[in-house]
Amino acid sequence: MTIWTPTLADGGPRYRRIAEAMAEAIGSGDLNPGEKLPPQRQLADRLGVTVGTITRAYAEAQRHGWVESRVGSGTYVRRAAEDDHVPFFRAGQPAGDGVIDISMSLPPPHPLRARGLQRALEGIAASPDALQAATEYQHEAGSEAQRARIAAWQGSHGLPDDPTRLLITQGGQHGIHLLVHNLAQPGDLVAADALTYPGFVCAAQQAHLRPMAVPMDADGLDVEALARLCARQPPRLLYTTPDLNNPTGARLSEARRERLVALAREHDIWLIEDAVQYLPEAQRGTPLIDLAPERTLHIFSTSKVLAGGLRIGSLTVPEQLQERLCSALRSQSWMVPPLMVEAACRWMEDPDSRELLRWQIDELAARRRLALDRLAAYAPLCREGSSLIWLPLPEGRRSSEVQALLARRGVKVSTPEPFCMGSEPAPQAIRLCLGPAETRETLDRALTIVDELLSEPPSSPWQTL
Ligand SMILES: Cc1ncc(COP(=O)(O)O)c(C=O)c1O
Repeated sequence: MTIWTPTLADGGPRYRRIAEAMAEAIGSGDLNPGEKLPPQRQLADRLGVTVGTITRAYAEAQRHGWVESRVGSGTYVRRAAEDDHVPFFRAGQPAGDGVIDISMSLPPPHPLRARGLQRALEGIAASPDALQAATEYQHEAGSEAQRARIAAWQGSHGLPDDPTRLLITQGGQHGIHLLVHNLAQPGDLVAADALTYPGFVCAAQQAHLRPMAVPMDADGLDVEALARLCARQPPRLLYTTPDLNNPTGARLSEARRERLVALAREHDIWLIEDAVQYLPEAQRGTPLIDLAPERTLHIFSTSKVLAGGLRIGSLTVPEQLQERLCSALRSQSWMVPPLMVEAACRWMEDPDSRELLRWQIDELAARRRLALDRLAAYAPLCREGSSLIWLPLPEGRRSSEVQALLARRGVKVSTPEPFCMGSEPAPQAIRLCLGPAETRETLDRALTIVDELLSEPPSSPWQTL
């Protein structure tokens, strides 16, 4: 019989890393439901840790419901019960066709995600009041109680915490959609960083707005360039992600935030501050909504913290816009489904969600170090706390060529094209995401392939005359 002996990830207390390795082994099928775990002393000897550490690790895994201890017999991988509808042992997406897709900005897979949702849903199912509320129409911005719970959770993470200005949305994209359709008219000029989140580019196009691409550099949006553009014709609104530009990872400097707010006041520009790309609080600057609450519309979402499939986010807006946006929400779908809001609220209030976020921050930090190390020869950019790697390509390499050649080798990455505002030319670079790979090892395989490809002389796949 082979004894399960995990390879431990870096960072964090050892007992927790052992418990997480257990969850990953269960997810990947290395440990099967019903399988007996090694006796604690044996595993302690193999890993060179104390028996106390293993006892804590087993207790931690049991607390999450991954294993169960049977008195006098040992610890076993928990079998899914008849009523376990959620496959909470699955660590991430199945390998499928073997392609490693690091093109999408997703949080790293962890069994606690499905587990958190499972617990939230079980809690709702067991609560007559919650079930009753989920069957009823609510206020279009969300029930007062749910808005207060989301605001309180946001506040505990250094995000806007005023429930009276908060509207619940179906994720960050819904917030963007609502704002571009309600703050601007077809034909209006809307500004954003020259490279920005494609969901905004697309929403602005669909609303028939005219794009104004604002030049940017390592300090984010070039506010002096915006001032020159405003002198010709100011935009109706400006969309920006001041803490973390998607795709480049640039952060708007404090001085530029002040200047941007002054410019917005001078030209009466709405500021849309998108904070969906979650960053630990220490890595953020002063929120625009704190500097100019009267004209900033703040977008947040649970997508990068809990799970994208929840589709629960928030808009915090100036009071004078509340009624207009509530009316837009009503005309779309009356309200976000109260059941999903309740699931998100219960999940965010579950202490495990804090643990999940702590794990995610540590995991992304380890993945970031790995990527910066693996790709050091190409001077990749990735701010601390970020999950996006921006990789300007070596002289002579083109993004579409590199993307196509990587796809042939089984690695999917993004080019800058979808991030371009208007007709701006795209720089020669690629964006890699640290989150979606199932494990660090998978990410490392992808990074090694990127490194190998870039170290080879270019071989243009040109096929035209
Ligand atoms: C900057 C930014 N805004 C908004 C979104 C969309 O968020 P959601 O999935 O909550 O709609 C994303 C998704 O990656 C994003 O990067």
